[in-house]
Amino acid sequence: VDVRDQVSPDKQAETSVPVHDLIARRWSPRAFDAEAEVTVDQLRALLEAGRWAASYGNTQPARFLVGLRGDDTFRRILGTLTESNQSWAHRSGALLVGVALTHNDKGELPYAEYGLGLAAQNLVLQAVAEGLAAHQMAGFDADAVRAEFGLPEQARAVVAIAVGHAADPRVLGVDRDVQRELAPRKRVPLAEFALRDWTSAAF
Ligand SMILES: Cc1cc2nc3c(=O)[nH]c(=O)nc-3n(C[C@H](O)[C@H](O)[C@H](O)COP(=O)(O)O)c2cc1C
Repeated sequence: VDVRDQVSPDKQAETSVPVHDLIARRWSPRAFDAEAEVTVDQLRALLEAGRWAASYGNTQPARFLVGLRGDDTFRRILGTLTESNQSWAHRSGALLVGVALTHNDKGELPYAEYGLGLAAQNLVLQAVAEGLAAHQMAGFDADAVRAEFGLPEQARAVVAIAVGHAADPRVLGVDRDVQRELAPRKRVPLAEFALRDWTSAAF
């Protein structure tokens, strides 16, 4: 299929009330454009957004390994992903690994993973603002990242993130994967998500 003139699907969240465009438009594609590039400036904006996330006591536990498609870091991160994630993530324009600093000289850093998560969400939303998309992954080998990049004991690779230009789902090739890419996005209802009391009334 010639997918060059095709566009990525509209996966905008169907919200019960309007929410900010950046939040509604964020989703996690697997179909990325293998030709389109993520620029260094875009990547810098994503990382800058991440850097300004809140953290417990401003301990700033988040760190990111950053590779641009074509460079060595990208190849090394790609090599740590599960086969199924590699099968689509190789088309992304950038691959990152989110690392949580769990300890410093003074001891354990509380909420380190939480802090990394906040930084990652900032980064992901900035990607949407840049006209890009990001896809977070637990499917990678954290021990391989530790060995490959020489992470010390107090640093823990928590998540890999693919960033790129969302593309026509047909780049995925296999029909099952195309269907999954087009499937509607689902969430628990707001009434289950926000409560006035644990067992009874919804907010
Ligand atoms: C911590 C985390 C780990 C994830 N791991 C994977 C993964 O290994 N492979 C994958 O294809 N998607 C992965 N996802 C993507 C989720 O499946 C996706 O965010 C979820 O289905 C909701 O879809 P949406 O992001 O498009 O709203 C992960 C997401 C998060 C936040």
